[in-house]
Amino acid sequence: MKIGVFIPIGNNGWLISENSPQYWPSFKMNKQVTLTAERHGLDFVLSMIKLRGFGGKTEFWDHNLDSFTLMSGLAAVTSRIKIFATCPTLAIPPAIAARMAATIDSVSNGRFGMNLITGWQKPEYSQMGIWPGDEYFAHRYEYLSEYIRIMRDLWETGRSDFKGRFFQMDDCRLSPRPQADMKIICAGQSDAGMAFTAEYADYNFCFGKGVNTPVAFAPTVQKLRAATAWTGRNVQAYALFMIIADETDAAARAKWELYKAGTDREATAWLVQQSEIDTASGGDTNVRQMADPTSIVNINMGTLVGSYETVARMLDEIDTVEGCEGVLLTFDDFLKGTEDFGTRIQPLMKSRQHVLEKEAA
Ligand SMILES: Cc1cc2nc3c(=O)[nH]c(=O)nc-3n(C[C@H](O)[C@H](O)[C@H](O)COP(=O)(O)O)c2cc1C
Repeated sequence: MKIGVFIPIGNNGWLISENSPQYWPSFKMNKQVTLTAERHGLDFVLSMIKLRGFGGKTEFWDHNLDSFTLMSGLAAVTSRIKIFATCPTLAIPPAIAARMAATIDSVSNGRFGMNLITGWQKPEYSQMGIWPGDEYFAHRYEYLSEYIRIMRDLWETGRSDFKGRFFQMDDCRLSPRPQADMKIICAGQSDAGMAFTAEYADYNFCFGKGVNTPVAFAPTVQKLRAATAWTGRNVQAYALFMIIADETDAAARAKWELYKAGTDREATAWLVQQSEIDTASGGDTNVRQMADPTSIVNINMGTLVGSYETVARMLDEIDTVEGCEGVLLTFDDFLKGTEDFGTRIQPLMKSRQHVLEKEAA
């Protein structure tokens, strides 16, 4: 099983609570988390892009660093772990994004890849005057398909003459090209998002589901497999989970209940309101899932709550989901959480014995 950390580029990580650790994002903190992950043999780090927060008492995600520049800094101070940035494709022209990626490929010596997003929160873009209109919800993955084709042209051949509905290239050039094959993540969950992923991406990231129901996300992996059956491409699935661990199940559960009791209702109300705007994407798989009242305190991210042993067992259970290559982890407290993962949880995981053996050799 591969393990990545969804590093805290925004304030307070992924807990919309007055009772969870309160912190601002900084390079210093993300560097510490990333170096800890690298030291414990974890496989990759990813940061999101979020351009507008939810407000409320906790000012949730009102404070966010930029993904590309943060990851470039982290690429410079690490040597082995893979580095992924998230590209806000509405805000950055594809030829510039391709060049930024080629630059971080050079900084990281071939360890860089990109998460492509269409954007699901209108105010992130309308605040800058670049929201293309609500009809965008219905064709956002068509837009992304043109975007990736231009970047691939540039990475693979150094030039693009692509002409499409959204972009026209005119002998567009890129040099130097990246030394490594540029790996692409797409976390699309809708039918259009999965179809895009099956055709163009290397990895699909999905939300884990429920609290202590480690394999409940398996149907999403099946959906991806159905989509890749059409394209014949090998796309690996990863699931996003939050870990809340402690010495005992009871201690971990107490922390989880405390965080829920402190839910910042003003901030979560904003999320609910946003989830009602996109009526064109279909299904319940997009932002409506995040805004579900069941576990809105952590945007309904799959959550593993328990002792270090319990969490290790649940992670091994995730490894049994056919087609799932790994997990992307968040923590209630990232600095302690990453360290505890390396020293207390990973050594108990059957699915991570290969890392421990490598370290021992
Ligand atoms: C692991 C993960 C990371 C994501 N990162 C971002 C991000 O940085 N910015 C963003 O606007 N959306 C992000 N999303 C949202 C997805 O790109 C996608 O829009 C969402 O899962 C809904 O799928 P759909 O676009 O097919 O409706 C992320 C989702 C997941 C599961």
